[in-house]
Amino acid sequence: MTSLWLSERAEQPWAPSALDQGPHSADIIVVGAGITGLMTAVLLARAGKDVLVVEARTVGACATGNTTAKISLLQGTHLSKIVAKHGTRLARAYVDGNREGQDWVVQHCEARGVAVQREDAYTYAQSAEGVPSAKAELKACQAVGLPAVWDDDADVPFPYHGGVRLPDQAQFDPMPFLDSLAVELLDRGGRLVEHTRVRRVSWRGKTVRAYVNGADGRDVELQAGRLVLATGMPILDRGGFFARLKPSRSYCLAFHVPGDITRPMMISADSPTRSVRYAPVADGERLIVGGAGHTVGRERSPSKALEELSSWARIHYPGAAQTHFWSAQDYTPIDDLPYVGPILPNNESIYVATGFNKWGMTNGPAAALALASGILGGRMDWARAFASWSPHELSGLPTALQANLEVGFDMVKGWITPATRTRRRDPGADEGGVVSGPPWHLEARCRVDGKEHRVSPVCTHLGGIVNWNDADKAWECPLHGSRFAPDGTLLEGPATRDLSASNPGE
Ligand SMILES: Cc1cc2nc3c(=O)[nH]c(=O)nc-3n(C[C@H](O)[C@H](O)[C@H](O)COP(=O)(O)OP(=O)(O)OC[C@H]3O[C@@H](n4cnc5c(N)ncnc54)[C@H](O)[C@@H]3O)c2cc1C
Ligand code: FES
Repeated sequence: MTSLWLSERAEQPWAPSALDQGPHSADIIVVGAGITGLMTAVLLARAGKDVLVVEARTVGACATGNTTAKISLLQGTHLSKIVAKHGTRLARAYVDGNREGQDWVVQHCEARGVAVQREDAYTYAQSAEGVPSAKAELKACQAVGLPAVWDDDADVPFPYHGGVRLPDQAQFDPMPFLDSLAVELLDRGGRLVEHTRVRRVSWRGKTVRAYVNGADGRDVELQAGRLVLATGMPILDRGGFFARLKPSRSYCLAFHVPGDITRPMMISADSPTRSVRYAPVADGERLIVGGAGHTVGRERSPSKALEELSSWARIHYPGAAQTHFWSAQDYTPIDDLPYVGPILPNNESIYVATGFNKWGMTNGPAAALALASGILGGRMDWARAFASWSPHELSGLPTALQANLEVGFDMVKGWITPATRTRRRDPGADEGGVVSGPPWHLEARCRVDGKEHRVSPVCTHLGGIVNWNDADKAWECPLHGSRFAPDGTLLEGPATRDLSASNPGE
């Protein structure tokens, strides 16, 4: 369950800082060492700021180290949704921001010797039903000035009913890129601590205080003038971003393929999503296939969709032998535009960057450019398409209402139905996980690799009841996407604490 990028990672060319190596203060604390956090940190360090990056796990451990890593301005059917909701002017600003992010990444890679492959990107119809969405995407691309064209034939081995092609996009392995950012940050005097989770944040006047887990288990206080939350879903509830984002998890498979591997980066316009690219590795190339997406914690059996994805790859690439399997999640904003900026209107202490809708290889860098320029007193012309608070959110209100009704429904369902829940295999029989018991004695029980774990199923974020993911072998909260290992250790999401030990006999 390690991604191709993390398992193929060459020796890490930098050493993490220790929390006690420097003062417990900085000009700016950046929380999260994915593409967004690390690039923001480097931009601020270039401007002479004293920057401390705090990462709960390791560099790239969440979405960035588990992405498909297409660096593309053609983003499935995303642009046509933005044009339909916000019009071409705002959509153009969104594309301008992504283009600037893309250029920054590609130029940085060229300057640092990080490999990038230039390939065409496609949004294609895999059936006749998918043609209208693919055509709508073409229209949206042309409306904002992208040089996209329609291709009736793409010479691919899977069903293809025509698609949009945007020439000369890019793809890479994200880990050498993250490593190069870490090296530059440290060279410029910044600090980067791993295995350190921010548990809570407070601010008064011009001082922000972040409390992290110290070595002895007690919280350690860090201070800064400003703090950037580049944590995917923001870990602070102020701002209510958890109610404006839908967490969506998807799966990737890498294969060794005996014949030719498709060169362009492909993603289907119609369901089920099929995302395809190749990746150079030490002993040749791999085919990467992605899809099987679902809202975190709400899929009955993710492993079924994953099996379908795997068999699709084997049918269309005969002889394909699976080498890697991994998964990750990203956050879909209710109004289809990312949220980048102050956590609350006019707040100049805490900033967020989220809502990249699985297109963060360009949106994350765009967010970093917008945040760094905002903090340093400048402004990007296109930043209005990335605002964390703006009138364009009104267009997302119906989606927000629906999403939060679903969350409310899942909250109630989680508390009252576990006793009768049959959807997860009972771990008593073999491997699997189940939540059971009456509402006052709920228990999450799972068996993985022959070992049984019992924990409280009550999510430490806002009290949702977790569900078992049989593909990832992890507990997932259906409310806002927090995830926990079988033993309850927090993996990701807006929660900041592990599941507590179960106490069924109380
Ligand atoms: C399956 C999949 C495929 C994708 N494919 C593509 C693609 O082809 N092209 C594309 O453009 N985008 C793609 N994306 C989206 C892209 O990967 C993400 O948008 C991007 O990686 C997000 O980067 P980030 O830095 O914002 O977040 P992350 O990489 O998730 O980084 C957040 C970091 O914050 C840390 N953190 C969280 N909470 C705390 C805390 N309390 N204290 C300290 N640290 C904390 C986490 O451990 C994590 O390392 C894909 C996403 C998925 C899920
Ligand atoms: S993630 Fe919000 S309640 Fe679990």
